[in-house]
Amino acid sequence: MKELIKRLVETYGPSGSEDQIRKAILEEVRPYVDEARVDPLGNLIAVKHAAKGNGGKKIMLAGHMDEIGVMVTHIDEKGFLRFGGIGGISPQILLGERVVFADGTVGIVGVERLDDPKDLRFDKLFIDIGAKDKAQAEKAVGIGWSAGYYRTFDDLGDRLVSKAMDDRIGCAVMIQAAKELKKTPNEVYFVFTVQEEVGLRGARTSAFAVDPDIGIAIDVTRTGDTPKGLPMAVELGGGAAIKVKDSSLVAHPKVKDLMAEVARTDKIPYQFEVLEAGGTDAGAIHLTKAGVPSGTISIPTRYIHTPSEVVDYGDVQACVRLLKGIVGRPIGL
Ligand code: CO
Ligand code: ZN
Repeated sequence: MKELIKRLVETYGPSGSEDQIRKAILEEVRPYVDEARVDPLGNLIAVKHAAKGNGGKKIMLAGHMDEIGVMVTHIDEKGFLRFGGIGGISPQILLGERVVFADGTVGIVGVERLDDPKDLRFDKLFIDIGAKDKAQAEKAVGIGWSAGYYRTFDDLGDRLVSKAMDDRIGCAVMIQAAKELKKTPNEVYFVFTVQEEVGLRGARTSAFAVDPDIGIAIDVTRTGDTPKGLPMAVELGGGAAIKVKDSSLVAHPKVKDLMAEVARTDKIPYQFEVLEAGGTDAGAIHLTKAGVPSGTISIPTRYIHTPSEVVDYGDVQACVRLLKGIVGRPIGL
């Protein structure tokens, strides 16, 4: 599974520019599903049909394909690109980073001279693509072009690090579950959504089209286990995190209980998660039409929205087993 994770996290795909990552995911998931289609906004919807003669549930799984990034707003007279953020990206973390555009153009994030480090904002930063002047920069890059962090995957043994674990690790968990799931009594929709980082947009429209009985998002969550970090119960290595609440969702009690029940029955390590700020695609799914009982399986992740997001491989495997265990059984909800 590490090869799959490496391929997904290293692929380019800021919100709204998901073509490359969608192509990679389609190649990876296609052998394990019965059909796959792309909807009008660009969500990839892959379906595994219920085994014959079963009145199973229609389950929508959602993992977002997009990653945070930056977008060029204008090019200054010396050929430096000025830009704004796409999703929750911070100027402090961008400083000194390299970013990459869809065509492979690489840029370095530099900063104007600051009297006070507190003045560090997007309008003080620029991207240097190595252009000698404005004309050369304009030939290489256009207004509205998007770039993502330029970082590779590293295997630290038990822990894995890369940019875009949020949420390519969720996509990888879904693909791996599709691969290992031989037969299911349910109709399982593996939806790889677009534009989560700018407001759960792909999940909103795809949930409307799928019209599921149950919704499950698979996404990263924060941890409380780093020095003077967030006061939070989730830790790396503690197993799959079953969400109770975040700012977008109060998990449906029956979905949450079902997840914990499956984890106990299958002896999968798990922990409950209460995230005080942040949301996932389940926030959009559960408010679809007349309402969809929904929950979230979270992969505990350190340093979210930095170029070095860290997950524990044992947690990742626990999430695969939990997801497989849920969608692979008859559900009485
Ligand atoms: Co995110
Ligand atoms: Zn995410």
